[in-house]
Amino acid sequence: MNNPFFQRASEKQKETREQETANQPWIEKWRPTKLDDIVGHEETLNQMRGMIETGSMPNLLLSGPPGCGKTTSVHVLARTLLGDRYKDAVLELNASDERGIDVVRNKIKMFAQKKVTLPAGRCKIIILDEADAMTKGAQQAMRRTMEIYSATTRFALACNLSDKIIEPIQSRCAIVRFSRLSDKQVLERLVYVCEQEKVPHDARGLEAIVFCAEGDMRNALNSLQACHSGFQMVNQENVFRVCDTPHPEVIGAILQHCLNGELDDACDRLLKLRKSGYSPQDLIKTIFQVCKRFDDKEMSEYVKLEFLKIIGFFHVRISEGCASDVQLCGMVARLCGCSLEAKSGKSWSTPQKTLMEIRKEGGSIGVSGSEFQ
Ligand SMILES: Nc1ncnc2c1ncn2[C@@H]1O[C@H](COP(=O)(O)OP(=O)(O)OP(=O)(O)O)[C@@H](O)[C@H]1O
Ligand SMILES: [Mg+2]
Repeated sequence: MNNPFFQRASEKQKETREQETANQPWIEKWRPTKLDDIVGHEETLNQMRGMIETGSMPNLLLSGPPGCGKTTSVHVLARTLLGDRYKDAVLELNASDERGIDVVRNKIKMFAQKKVTLPAGRCKIIILDEADAMTKGAQQAMRRTMEIYSATTRFALACNLSDKIIEPIQSRCAIVRFSRLSDKQVLERLVYVCEQEKVPHDARGLEAIVFCAEGDMRNALNSLQACHSGFQMVNQENVFRVCDTPHPEVIGAILQHCLNGELDDACDRLLKLRKSGYSPQDLIKTIFQVCKRFDDKEMSEYVKLEFLKIIGFFHVRISEGCASDVQLCGMVARLCGCSLEAKSGKSWSTPQKTLMEIRKEGGSIGVSGSEFQ
């Protein structure tokens, strides 16, 4: 190995590897490779540690919201269980592959029949990522395959919505639920990545990323990288430019106007945001998030509950297709009304009817304003 030719070649290889990782998106570069590096999901990870200890894994169905670590965990588990046999003994199918019945008949069955020498007690693993995208027919066809090859093959299905997986498959699997990561958990990982990548940042910048990510670690890491490559410094201002989310301080001010019963000021600010390009969906989502974060001193619990109910009600309307400025101003008017009535001690009744109900009753919807009784 002292041959200068080999030395140069290995240095060149190292350089290329470094270049490749430098260009990698951080979500891949910092994808945990050990269970201990995965943040949150303590109970689930302990379950997996148990499986690694005993060396046996049941069929698994991992379900939960996007970007919380399902794919990562299942790969770490398979890698730890199978070590250097991982390449031969794992078949991974994800949404980029064909998901019809032919895949089950050909790829999955063929792999299940394949002979691979493994340490005693270990099984081959078929990872079906984004399994909720599989057709019902394909899922039906998998029922028997799962049973017939159960001595040699285990299935690990990952999905966002477990109700998209047919009951017989659910009953053949141990169901592992992943929840959204907490703000603290996302922040912890962001701080770690910032240290590793030497990203100049301030606390409010990271808080802003956490606010926009809503428990989705993939989203948080992508925003961090986008902000760093676009502006170098990760501070609040730059983060909100990258995330394209209305600034929570402006939204907070709108809610404060509503609390004071200042309808015109609240509407003016909201419409200004609309003019700058934010959609009613963007706005109502952030209004909900900011309202949730108001503390007891700023907003009493009763008013907060009523505000959230009203915002939820208008969210439904906007999602059902009535995404107009009239709806947004109507919501603000209701928030002002609620706050003023709460101050005067009268009880406030939240709107109960959804758009569908109004339609059923023959009422008009949209810009006529008739829905604001
Ligand atoms: N709990 C976590 N701890 C550390 N990093 C995480 C965690 N969850 C997600 N990540 C990061 O986010 C990226 C995406 O995670 P992953 O692919 O596991 O998400 P997922 O739950 O499978 O999402 P989807 O439902 O969209 O497939 C990972 O590459 C990793 O960098
Ligand atoms: Mg995934």
